[in-house]
Amino acid sequence: MEVMPYQPEMEVEFVAPALAPATTPTVSSDWRDKLPVLNGQQVTLRALRLDDAESLLTMLTTEEVTRFISPPPTTLDGFRRFIAWTHREQAAGRYVCFAVVPHGMETAVGLFQVRSLEPGFGTAEWGFILGSAFWGTGMFIDGAREVVDFAFETLGVHRLEARAAVRNGRGNGALRKLGAVQEGVLRRSFLRRGEYLDQVLWAILDDEWQQAKTVWGHPSIH
Ligand SMILES: CC(C)(COP(=O)(O)OP(=O)(O)OC[C@H]1O[C@@H](n2cnc3c(N)ncnc32)[C@H](O)[C@@H]1OP(=O)(O)O)[C@@H](O)C(=O)NCCC(=O)NCCS
Repeated sequence: MEVMPYQPEMEVEFVAPALAPATTPTVSSDWRDKLPVLNGQQVTLRALRLDDAESLLTMLTTEEVTRFISPPPTTLDGFRRFIAWTHREQAAGRYVCFAVVPHGMETAVGLFQVRSLEPGFGTAEWGFILGSAFWGTGMFIDGAREVVDFAFETLGVHRLEARAAVRNGRGNGALRKLGAVQEGVLRRSFLRRGEYLDQVLWAILDDEWQQAKTVWGHPSIH
């Protein structure tokens, strides 16, 4: 995904989570009430907290981070609203967002998002964003393995898609490195700053992922 499915105009309320029962079946629904904490070798992934807003604002609104993605919120209040929205979408069973917290730190320096593209999370799309100070550190791949494993094993995803602007060298390089398969180019599919950009469509299938895991080992869900 171009990282931010959230748009301020989607909001119907602020902070209070929507507790409407979800209408779609899932493999496991505990995550709707409480997102598990995933422990990687370098990062911890957990649900966003309102006090992550300041750090996210600092980390995720720079020009180099936002160049090829839909713009994240631009204010502290905007990030707080986004965080509240992630909690409501999770409770409704159609989306999860993990905060990326490097070991030794307390607040989020990035995000992994997964949203359902069909009832029940069979096909899902994910996106990711890290503060540029943490690029090239191995934290992306460390967190990504945990999140992808969570998507297949807990959300019940069988096909996990990602879209990245063709010009986004790091985004595409990161997906390739993870083992995603490039399936095609979606021509002029992403409007960014008044220009339609081509996007690469990437996908990982559940059986491919299981096979890849035999090479790099098993992540741990806590
Ligand atoms: C996408 C993102 C999370 C990846 O994290 P990262 O730490 O930069 O990723 P990594 O360094 O582990 O992997 C990127 C790979 O792309 C390679 N790469 C960098 N620039 C490249 C380019 N122009 N062309 C091809 N490959 C490139 C890197 O060399 C690296 O591969 P390597 O580890 O084998 O050398 C991070 O760059 C980011 O937050 N970008 C801004 C938001 C964004 O674009 N999100 C993705 C939307 S799909």
